[in-house]
Amino acid sequence: MLHFTSVKDIGSLDSAMAKAMEIKKDPFANCNLGKHRTALLLFFNSSLRTRLSTQKAAENLGMNVIVLDVQQGAWNLETRKGVVMDSDKPEHLLEAIPVMGCYADIIGVRSFARFESKEADYNEEILNKFIRYSGKPVISLESATRHPLQSFADHITIEEFKKKPKPKVVLTWAPHPRALPQAVANSFSEWMVAAGYDLTITHPQGYELDERFTHGAKIVYDQSEAFRGADFIYAKNWAAYRDPVYGKILSKDMSWMVDSRKMELTDNAYFMHCLPVRRNMIVSDRVLDSPASLVIPQAANRETAAQAVIQSILETLLKQH
Ligand code: CP
Repeated sequence: MLHFTSVKDIGSLDSAMAKAMEIKKDPFANCNLGKHRTALLLFFNSSLRTRLSTQKAAENLGMNVIVLDVQQGAWNLETRKGVVMDSDKPEHLLEAIPVMGCYADIIGVRSFARFESKEADYNEEILNKFIRYSGKPVISLESATRHPLQSFADHITIEEFKKKPKPKVVLTWAPHPRALPQAVANSFSEWMVAAGYDLTITHPQGYELDERFTHGAKIVYDQSEAFRGADFIYAKNWAAYRDPVYGKILSKDMSWMVDSRKMELTDNAYFMHCLPVRRNMIVSDRVLDSPASLVIPQAANRETAAQAVIQSILETLLKQH
């Protein structure tokens, strides 16, 4: 693997899971693999888990790590092509990317959907520019349409806690005060289908995701019906995907919040969320604070997932030399 932007890049999920479990057993077994190599982690958007877990993972492999918040301390970057650069953005991404490629062996990029253009978001214009112009392996730290490191961590977590070979996993939309990208939901859906789980997605009418990500999942508009018999409930908000309301909030219906009454419909399901989570909007305190909540193990598995991905890329780089 050279670039990691989706489940399609990881190859065999069984091999990836085996690698993750080896890393969990001994995170420092390959502590010299990345010696004298540098990971640059670039954030166009805020982060707690991705920043810390990816830095830790790269350091476990012996890498030097540079973390850069683009909005704080770097020049404001122009991303549009062919514009007269007379605004407050003195540097163009087209120079900045190859410059960053000079200092790094692997580049991680976080760049959320901007909701200015569905075409730009779903063509992954920022992430693909890094792949094209940096000359270095690129890891998605959450792009406009996917959050694959999160989905890999979610997969590890489900494997660790599942009580049957093919658990029923339910992705449920839940209310949120701000318009959020579809990346986590898209990526989770695509990864769970690839993992062979029984995936149901439930959301109010109008919140349909791009079918390229949900193909293979059941779509159920009745949340209670979707919850029946579930083994894992994964809550997430996302804004509308479909035109002409792309990126808009269509509903803040609080009846979609995950609470204890709904969890009782399940087969003693675990509760999952990628964090950060809005308490008593997405999920009630009672569910989040209950033993059924897996949000902390999920976050812990972010380090393992990141390390498995970085290790695979380092192994590829070593084979090339
Ligand atoms: N789940 C996740 O990606 O968390 P951060 O946004 O804090 O990195």
